[in-house]
Amino acid sequence: MPLRVLGISGSLRKASYNTALLRLAGELLPPGMTMEIFDLSTLPLFNQDTEKPFPPSVEDFRSCIAQADAVLIASPEYNGSISGVLKNAIDWASRPPKHPLNGKPVAIMGASTGNFGTVRAQMHLRHVLTYIGALPLGKPDVFVARAEQIFDAEGNVTDETTRKFVRDLLFALKKWVHVTSQT
Ligand SMILES: Cc1cc2nc3c(=O)[nH]c(=O)nc-3n(C[C@H](O)[C@H](O)[C@H](O)COP(=O)(O)O)c2cc1C
Repeated sequence: MPLRVLGISGSLRKASYNTALLRLAGELLPPGMTMEIFDLSTLPLFNQDTEKPFPPSVEDFRSCIAQADAVLIASPEYNGSISGVLKNAIDWASRPPKHPLNGKPVAIMGASTGNFGTVRAQMHLRHVLTYIGALPLGKPDVFVARAEQIFDAEGNVTDETTRKFVRDLLFALKKWVHVTSQT
């Protein structure tokens, strides 16, 4: 059985660098790994009054996470942190019963037009994921800085260094899934 990865982009922008980074990951998957991308624009804003029952798109999101062996998040950086879109999605996923990110291996990467390539956002994301019991992969880091110089107008990446970082992250995620399934 191939390892199933659920890809999530924290940006809804059509020409999003982070969504393009996820597509790049889809191209560079190691053998024995498949990826589907979940579109976070289907999720409503979290409201505790509307979680019993969960809205259908939230049920769908939670079951996609539950069925995946791992999650790959491409996070933009907004004002030194993660986007509201991404936090909203994590909040929906984190609710009982049996929240599907608990114990789930998660790899993180991110692209921004700034000089630090989402370092601050990824630190915040690690904090949130760890808090809810997900298992974020430590290394390697994928910080794509000055993204407008790395992606072309169609979102393609020819830069070999970036491609290598993403490939290495995916190989490490594959190992991480095996390590975490033995504990
Ligand atoms: C509200 C807002 C805040 C931003 N804050 C940061 C920031 O703190 N650091 C950074 O590197 N880029 C920041 N940016 C620029 C983003 O890196 C840039 O818009 C990037 O393209 C967003 O990711 P996307 O292409 O996936 O949509 C900000 C952009 C917006 C819209």
